[in-house]
Amino acid sequence: MADTNGVPLDFLGELRRTHMCGQLRASDAGSRVLLMGWVHRRRDLGGVIFLHLRDRDGVAQLVFHADQGADVHQKAGLVRPEYVIAAEGLVALRTPETVNPSIATGEVEVVVEKLWIFNESRTPPFPMEETVDVAEEVRLKYRYVDLRRPHMQRNILLRSKISFAVREYLYSQGFLEIETPFMTRSTPEGARDYLVPSRVQPGSFYALPQSPQIFKQLLMIGGFDKYFQIVRCFRDEDFRADRQAEFTQIDLEMSFPQQERILEVIEPLVQAICRVAGHPVALPFPRLTWEQAMRSYGIDKPDLRLPPFHTVEDLFPGAGLTGEGLPLVAIVVPKAGGASRKERDELKALGAERGLRVYDDAKRLDRDFPAPMAEVRARTGAGPDDLLILAGWPGAPQGRRPVEAVLQACGQLRLQACQKYADRHKLFDPQDFRFLWVVDFPMFEWSEEESRWGAAHHPFTSVHDEDLDKLVTDPAHCRAKSYDLVLNGVELGSGSIRIHRRDVQAKVFQALGFAEEEARARFGYLLEALEFGAPPHGGVALGLDRLVMILAGETSIRDVIPFPKTARGTDLMCDAPSAIPDRQLRELGIQLRKPQ
Ligand code: AMO
Repeated sequence: MADTNGVPLDFLGELRRTHMCGQLRASDAGSRVLLMGWVHRRRDLGGVIFLHLRDRDGVAQLVFHADQGADVHQKAGLVRPEYVIAAEGLVALRTPETVNPSIATGEVEVVVEKLWIFNESRTPPFPMEETVDVAEEVRLKYRYVDLRRPHMQRNILLRSKISFAVREYLYSQGFLEIETPFMTRSTPEGARDYLVPSRVQPGSFYALPQSPQIFKQLLMIGGFDKYFQIVRCFRDEDFRADRQAEFTQIDLEMSFPQQERILEVIEPLVQAICRVAGHPVALPFPRLTWEQAMRSYGIDKPDLRLPPFHTVEDLFPGAGLTGEGLPLVAIVVPKAGGASRKERDELKALGAERGLRVYDDAKRLDRDFPAPMAEVRARTGAGPDDLLILAGWPGAPQGRRPVEAVLQACGQLRLQACQKYADRHKLFDPQDFRFLWVVDFPMFEWSEEESRWGAAHHPFTSVHDEDLDKLVTDPAHCRAKSYDLVLNGVELGSGSIRIHRRDVQAKVFQALGFAEEEARARFGYLLEALEFGAPPHGGVALGLDRLVMILAGETSIRDVIPFPKTARGTDLMCDAPSAIPDRQLRELGIQLRKPQ
């Protein structure tokens, strides 16, 4: 027995638990059990003390009667919340009036005969009850305590079950789990790299992978058809509720697949994951081409729980409601027909921020354009309870894809408008999981900043066979063999058929404005590998954190990651990132200068 703060502490010794706390049921009455865990709650009624003992599995009530064992009762008087103890005793049925239906073990209690105290605890920084709201900074500083709370326990357990279901399914489909390096060269996925300095080669840096993209392609070239990995990726980009600097992908790749084959593999995988989370989903998932998604939702990750918008410029020829050749969009906000003047002015202002002119006065539109408006109502299905607005672009067309720019602005307006009314009119059912595939993305996106085309997915994505000739001459109209999995407006996953021919890869680099030399310097090893019998291949990566977040009903990715970082990229618990001693910098040959 060791002593701290006056409470005599016991050793674990050879003690073994017989049950998990949450397992006990009425059928265990009369059994002798030994439980271990944390003191969740304590009620001292003088002659009798009740402790709720908690472990990963649940909570069991322990009872200590002064008249049945003075020593053990006295010892129970020493324990406080979050002390770590073991208790041995007999399971007894509770009297009907003391049954607690709110816990699974509520019909029984353990009448304790022996008690061991393994450790004390300082008063926890916040109570364990999930009903108590705690500031996130405090939760993250004491994450190990926060993790004991029921809602984090549930989320991390769900995450583990999902990982298991992923492995189970993919193994059953003949996939191999193979690891790829973390200390490597840059793998571009549109973010900045995290760099690791090399001590042995001063001035040289490894990059942490933004994804295992190139390595999984090299595995296909290496003959390991059907690879998968549940893998950490690292991206230095702005944090958001659904983004972390290090996050986890369910990453897979296959040799000789068509796009169709990959979707066929992923759909049952997603179904199995949802089943584990208790949310059955039906297959197949609906599909929209990128073009259709933009035309109907103005976004490449539409939330299908809300109605699409409709382009109606054909109904108002010469009316001047939108710019020449540009869309006029009818947006319906369900059940928001009673929106006040002020609310409608706010919508107009939101539209104006995006360069849109919003026509919110449906009565006036009905008067000025009776026949076209009747057709608008027919197309959109807008009813008397709904808010119907039109949005157009008053000025000259802008950018390289002006129609897309207007549709995108309308898509954002639609989302913002619906979000405004989401809570009031219950527009989103949180239990409604609406998956869809968006396919046939454009191959390239124009970057105004860099004045050049960038890869819409990543530079290793294959172009549609019939667009191959347009790669360099007409990049704006090349479609990619790529697909995104979307759930309720969130991009859950992304994939593509890859380029397996050296000549095509070189052309894509050319279209992206990489000089041959630059392409060789950055990706020479991949280009060379493509010369050694690269098979046609393709794959996909799903964001595990986002998937668990949505299935767990959370709105922040941080709530499904055991040790996440704050929006500023800080780990509040261990205070990372941190300065490093000068000695370490010297060893690495690094001299710091002020960031620009
Ligand atoms: P992509 O970059 O689209 O594709 O990533 C795939 C999925 O990973 C998730 N994700 C993130 N989750 C949390 N925090 C982040 N910062 C973050 N970034 C991405 C998203 C996303 O859909 N190599 C390709 C896949 C492929 O082509 O096979 C890739 O990484 O859910």
